[in-house]
Amino acid sequence: MAKTIISYNCSACGTAHKKWAGQCDGCGEWNTLVEEAPMSAGPASSSLGAARGRKVPLMDLDGDIELPPRTLSGVQELDRVLGGGLVASSAVLVGGDPGIGKSTLLLQAAARFARNGLKVVYISGEEASAQVRMRAQRLGVEKSPVLLGTETSLRDILTTLENEKPDLAVIDSIQTMWADNVSSAPGSVSQVRAAAHELTTFAKRKGMAIVLVGHVTKEGQIAGPRVVEHMVDTVLYFEGERGHQFRILRAVKNRFGATDEIGVFEMTGKGLREIKNPSALFLADRDNAQPGSVVFAGIEGTRPVLAEFQALVSPSPHSQSKRTVVGWDSGRLAMILAVLESRCGIPFAGLDVYLNVAGGLKVTEPAADLAVAAALLSAREDTALPADTVVFGEISLSGALRPAGQTENRLKEAEKLGFSGAIVPSRSKTGTGSGLQITQFADLAGFTEQTFAAE
Ligand code: TYD
Ligand code: MG
Repeated sequence: MAKTIISYNCSACGTAHKKWAGQCDGCGEWNTLVEEAPMSAGPASSSLGAARGRKVPLMDLDGDIELPPRTLSGVQELDRVLGGGLVASSAVLVGGDPGIGKSTLLLQAAARFARNGLKVVYISGEEASAQVRMRAQRLGVEKSPVLLGTETSLRDILTTLENEKPDLAVIDSIQTMWADNVSSAPGSVSQVRAAAHELTTFAKRKGMAIVLVGHVTKEGQIAGPRVVEHMVDTVLYFEGERGHQFRILRAVKNRFGATDEIGVFEMTGKGLREIKNPSALFLADRDNAQPGSVVFAGIEGTRPVLAEFQALVSPSPHSQSKRTVVGWDSGRLAMILAVLESRCGIPFAGLDVYLNVAGGLKVTEPAADLAVAAALLSAREDTALPADTVVFGEISLSGALRPAGQTENRLKEAEKLGFSGAIVPSRSKTGTGSGLQITQFADLAGFTEQTFAAE
């Protein structure tokens, strides 16, 4: 009698284990192993057998390049994040927290693509047709030629797509899909993996573009295995703070364009509205110079974006002082505090430190180091930096300042938004065209002495 082999898969990273354990060997997470029947037990012998394969044609690196055809949605924020429109027969994963607006974004995008001549099928596994229609009405896209299906059976969906032959299929969401040849429950690692695999390979074979919607877990991973991210060409995250109206679509992987590209939207009563000038939005509530507030001239993907860092430093009532960060990396904050302490002699021990990026933006660039240091010092010394000055530059552990990439673009954006000064590292390539007053510093100690007269 054939024995069914049960495996224990990690629901966070997808690593398969023979035995149950409390902790996953792959990612170190606790209590993530779940019992599942494997996709297949594999061939009896480890070799592929005697049958010979087909010889694959090999070619030179040099030769004609055929660029994949792309379709623009007309939603510029989306088209740019995709790398210049949707690539035919590509697979895109859109991840995000429940309720952030993924279905809204994709229904709006589907309607635009349909109006631009693509045949679009939208499969909702989460909502009934009435709900999707109501949303379409709210968005004012109910007259767009999008074909709607509400189904979770993968077999039926594939048959439908096979018959309809759309140019684009949207699957909302991958976690609700159910493959009848896999025995575990919908949403489990094996189901998500099987459904994503079937759908992406089907799409490639048929020359159809596919967009998969995926929910993200609390830890920020697409629920189910990371492997879905490897199966698709493009991974986009739709993020934003619940209390804010802004939503940011971020490319974290893109075989057809730049990563770290962001598109900015605002959630309104009638769906998502594009924000074409995000800097103006992120700086909207800023009027006078405030201690602790510093404007950072950043680059998100290919576009300069200004953002405001806000710091608050207060005596700590606890024996262990607090460090709280929103919108930036807490490890990086610890590093900058350490550099300030050991290279500039400015201690933060006994002080609680809070750091926030206004507007719900997440900054990942090391070029923000100097802006963070400036915000921290400004808060600590209770001295405001001039409100019309932007700051950027990387700080190394020695306390030296390193020029950031694309200095000229950052300066240009700051000038466009009415700033008149910039604080940057020495040797920054500032170009000649800038009308800003540029102050350069070789190291952090020089900057702190000059700006805050701190010892
Ligand atoms: P939804 O697209 O359903 O989120 P997801 O698919 O990521 O779970 O959007 C959910 C939220 O967006 C919901 O709380 C209502 C809000 N919303 C608006 O504010 N305006 C709108 O026009 C729409 C359609 C939704
Ligand atoms: Mg949804």
